[in-house]
Amino acid sequence: MKESRILLGVCGGIAAYKAAALTSTLVQRGAVVEVVMTDDAQRFVGPLTFAALTQRPVYTSLWEAQEKIPHIALVRSADAFAIVPATANVIAKLAHGIADDLLTNAALAATIPLVVAPAMNAAMYEHPATVENLRLLRERGVTLVEPESGFLAERERGIGRLADEGKILAVLETVLARTRELEGERIVITAGPTREPIDPVRFVSNGSTGTTGIEIAREALARGAEVDLVLGPTSAEAPGKIRTHRVTTAQEMYDATLPLAQRASIVVAAAAVSDWRPSRAHAQKVKKTGAELNVEMVRNPDILAALGEHKNGAYLVGFAAETEEHEANGREKLRRKHLDAIAVNDVAEGRGFGGGENELVILHGEDGRIALGRGPKRELAARFWDAIAALRAKT
Ligand SMILES: Cc1cc2nc3c(=O)[nH]c(=O)nc-3n(C[C@H](O)[C@H](O)[C@H](O)COP(=O)(O)O)c2cc1C
Repeated sequence: MKESRILLGVCGGIAAYKAAALTSTLVQRGAVVEVVMTDDAQRFVGPLTFAALTQRPVYTSLWEAQEKIPHIALVRSADAFAIVPATANVIAKLAHGIADDLLTNAALAATIPLVVAPAMNAAMYEHPATVENLRLLRERGVTLVEPESGFLAERERGIGRLADEGKILAVLETVLARTRELEGERIVITAGPTREPIDPVRFVSNGSTGTTGIEIAREALARGAEVDLVLGPTSAEAPGKIRTHRVTTAQEMYDATLPLAQRASIVVAAAAVSDWRPSRAHAQKVKKTGAELNVEMVRNPDILAALGEHKNGAYLVGFAAETEEHEANGREKLRRKHLDAIAVNDVAEGRGFGGGENELVILHGEDGRIALGRGPKRELAARFWDAIAALRAKT
């Protein structure tokens, strides 16, 4: 916590007073805390309390500072943004991208980790609108500190009481540690399909959208790594701070990846590379005639095997998209290609390609196995790095 810079957002609920106690603890632990309050939060606790605790100005309006754009400056100078307590209203705004005050503008502009601790009446918490809004936030990678059951302000018992301070602090500690977990690592990630031309308008490819690799790249960046992403043809985009190298064919992916991998400390090969390509690409569109078109396919270079052969001390993680005998095939590929770990997913009936969800198992060493479970690709990317960072720390 020491020297961490935390932006604390306080919303208009009874538990706003608990945010003052949290601020005091954070300051005592050496964190630099900046506080932003909604208008209604100030009905419950005065900004003066937070100003005295942090010995800093408290931010309450989009329109105060003339010399800088406050919501951008606030999130750029923080390591994490914690919203404690988060009202049903602010949760709804976050879920739908509404930015009508300083706190919600800052949240929308934030590329730092967002920690949200809801607190409200049980009926509000259990309302389908809130349930759905929280689901959306979780899916986008927001860390939620679930409220507890207990005595509520309405003098009834139920779920919705702000999580206790110890739990919020523990979550913040984990999130902050993660932001530095991959600091100093140079990571190369391949993602997406490749496209092998038959003629100028036709090609052989597969259903990969590159989302899994892009999410892994995004998460590596969020954990402090320097990231190069070699990305096949897909409409999906990676964040600007990732150095993205666009390629089309397997040969281009090979040519772009191998030199980058020589300078990398971790390589993650998540691309769905075509194993074969047409032996020749026709210069002109092949005309439709009554005759069959026979396309002879030749082997593409095996990028993962080449990475395994020319390993320059980098930790090498492959991916195996399998439709049968997933783990046995994955284990065999791990050994044959000299990988340190392999993430196996089942792509039978299109699972794993595109879509929001995936299910991964990481195999490593002789018989190591870590099941990452099923979940949104963004969440799986976080679990992926939790596992890989721990494995790498042991090497
Ligand atoms: C006494 C009182 C207590 C409230 N407590 C909560 C609460 O704990 N959680 C919540 O979501 N809303 C609570 N509300 C409703 C919010 O204050 C209201 O939705 C407000 O507009 C939220 O503003 P904000 O989300 O911009 O901070 C409370 C309202 C009152 C009058």
